[in-house]
Formats: sequence, C-alpha cells, structure tokens
Amino acid sequence: MQDFSKYLSANANNMKKSVIRELLKLTNQPDIISFAGGLPAPETFPVEELREASDRVFRKYGDKILQYGTTEGDNDLKAQLVAYESAQGIKLGPENLLITSASQQALDMLPKLFLDPGDYVIAGRPTYVGAIQAIQSYQGNVLGIPFSTADDGFDMVELEKRYERAISAKKRIKYIYVIPDFQNPSGICWSLEKRKALLEFAYREGLFIVEDAPYREIRFMGEPVPSIYQLDQQMQNRGIVINLKTFSKILAPGTRIGWIIAREDLIQKMVIAKQAMDLCTSVLTQKMIAEFMATGKLKDIVARTCGIYRNKRNFMLEMFEKYMPKRFDLAWTKPEGGLFLWLSLPRYIDTDKMFYKAVEKKVAYVVGSAFYFDEPETNSMRINFSYSSFEQIEEGTKRLANVISEEIEAHEAGPRGQTSPEDI
Ligand SMILES: Cc1ncc(COP(=O)(O)O)c(C=O)c1O
Repeated sequence: MQDFSKYLSANANNMKKSVIRELLKLTNQPDIISFAGGLPAPETFPVEELREASDRVFRKYGDKILQYGTTEGDNDLKAQLVAYESAQGIKLGPENLLITSASQQALDMLPKLFLDPGDYVIAGRPTYVGAIQAIQSYQGNVLGIPFSTADDGFDMVELEKRYERAISAKKRIKYIYVIPDFQNPSGICWSLEKRKALLEFAYREGLFIVEDAPYREIRFMGEPVPSIYQLDQQMQNRGIVINLKTFSKILAPGTRIGWIIAREDLIQKMVIAKQAMDLCTSVLTQKMIAEFMATGKLKDIVARTCGIYRNKRNFMLEMFEKYMPKRFDLAWTKPEGGLFLWLSLPRYIDTDKMFYKAVEKKVAYVVGSAFYFDEPETNSMRINFSYSSFEQIEEGTKRLANVISEEIEAHEAGPRGQTSPEDI
C-alpha cells in the first residue's frame, strides 16, 4: 500500500499514539484485573435521573434541542454553571464561560491558540498524558517540573532553575499547565502556599496558568483548598488563570460536556477556535444537564460518588499495606481525592518491561513513563481505585505485589546481588 506519511502535515506526523490506549488493548481480556483505565465507577452514574431529565427536555423543547446551538454554549446550562461556581466562591458571569465538548477539547484548544511550533508549556513531571499529546500535536514542548518531596505541588526551586535556564536558552514559554486537585496521574493535591507561590511566579513572569480541575469536587477527605482561579481573584485579580472543568468525573464522562472559566476577551478568542473545531457542543446533552442541575441533585450525586471512592481508596491502601513488599524504596501516594494513586518502585525495576509480566499474571496498570514528555522515569505506575470492585482490588493487589516481589527477588539474586546505593 502507498505510504501516506509524506502527504501529512508536520503536525500530523508529530502526533503520537497514546501509550495508555495501546497498552489498554492488551488488557481487554475478561480475566484481567485492570487498575489501568481512568474510568469512573459506573455505579456512580445517575442513570434514572438523567433519563428523566432527557424526557423532560424533549417534551419542553421538541425539535429545538435537535438544532445547532451557539458556539458559546446553551444559556440555560451557563446560568446553572454560574450559580454552581458562584456557590463555590468564584466570581463570574455567563460571559466568562465557554461550554466545551469536555475538557479534552479545551486541552486541544489551548495549544492551538497559544503555541507556535517549538514553543514551551511548563507542566509537571509527571503530568496528564492527554495534555502532553495535545501539546505535541501542535509541535509544542513541555518544560517539565518535578514535584516537591512533600507532594504538595511543584518543587519551586527547580521551577526557578529550569525556567531561568530555558529563558537564557531563548526558549519561548507560553503558559503553565497544572492539575492542582488530585493530579492525574499522581493524586497529589497542591497546598495553599504552593498555589500562591505559583501565582506569584506567573504574575512576575507574565505567564498564563491553565488550571485543569476535573477532580476538584472529588475530594473525599481533608479540607478544600481554594482553586488557583479563585486565589487570583482574591490576590491581584489579573485574570491570568484559565480554569477547566468537566462533568466527566462528577456526573458521567459519556456526556462529553465541560466548561472553561476565563476572562471575557480570552473566552471570545476561544469561541473562534472552537467554531472551527465543532461549531457547537451537543445541544441535546447541554439541555439535559441543565435540566438535571435544576433539580438540585448534582450535589447529592457528587457526595455519593465521593463516599464510594473514599471506601475504595481506603480499601486499596489497606490492601497495599497488607500485600506489598515492605521496603524503604517502595512507596505510594495517599490521595485525599480523585481516582488515582502513584506507586514508586526501586529504581532498577522498569515498569514498562514489567507490564507484560503483570498482564501474564492477569493484572494491569499504566506505566509511569507514559506521563513524561521527555526523559521518562521508568520505576513508577499509575493505579486507579475507582473502577474495580472490592474483590478485584484485593485480588489485583495480591497479583501486582507478587509480580513486584518477583522482580525484586530476581534483582537481588542476580549478578549484582543486593541493592547498591546507585539503585536508590
Ligand atoms: C487531568 C485531566 N484532564 C482532562 C481530562 C479529560 O477529561 P474529559 O472527559 O472532560 O475530556 C482527564 C481525563 O481523565 C484528566 O484526567
């Protein structure tokens, strides 16, 4: 067959397949316990309530909900979202909102708007793979910043150092991308101090901050911390934060509805970008969600979801304590929200290679290396705790712990014998 790559744009040739999706294909066997996907638990979806809301909007609006809508988004949904966000302390009007076909569309729109080929985005090491992919597809680069050992946000010393070096090397940096609430993949939640410090840094350097917050409401323990968007409003109110939200984790990802909160002039620019992407987000689904929100039940659904995830997270941590080898160089995060925890293994374990052994033992995870733009660390993995049942969590943890123990034993019995200082 004729090779078509020479006909493709540089952008298209630059696109990379998602490692996660490729690996997930291997895990599609029924007897595999998968901690790999990022799926919400289906038992959290309010099926009946959404069906009723859908019936009502068909009856109320008839053919109108089957028509094109405005690019900005449905006014009823926007009105609901203004009330919803205001109740959380955000000052906004409908002009500060753009409804998107979920957050992934926003993540694709931002590099499209901000990046010329070769430009840089500052982001975490590790960070959400879907954001990396979007940046790459516009030939952008990521300046990766490691997290502090306290797991409370960026290592700010490293941020300053790496930023300084990049500026000296004449790199063009356009914005900072962060997931401050229960990050995908690590589960890390930024402290108030770190959020303020990042804002101060962005004010000083004249950078925008993209705050991706799909897990913000999925806090099942601990005290909420203001969003960076909110902190900007409380501090200098410079409008430098672009806040991305979605119904994917608080309602159902199949709705494919999200929203961007930003200053009005930015929203207007995004509207133009979105026109070329999809004209408008599904009117039918927007109306259905607006109708559902008007019942006031979203709060209860989110509270129920948080309860379910709290139990699953606690159980998974209990199972990790019970089955994982006890070592100083094996650790995992203990998130207070979200869907994931991050497991770090001894340096000599390559989780990319170990993945195939794990699949043979019928358990799957996402390799940590997938979450790095460059120079990946290869001794970590992302574990999802929202999707599996309690039985699967116990059995899957047992299987995973066995695979890891075997790797450690093979290393220690190998020619180099015991762990050496450079392994740590
Ligand atoms: C950090 C982050 N941002 C964005 C998304 C995309 O979500 P959506 O379903 O709203 O497109 C995800 C999905 O898992 C995510 O983890």
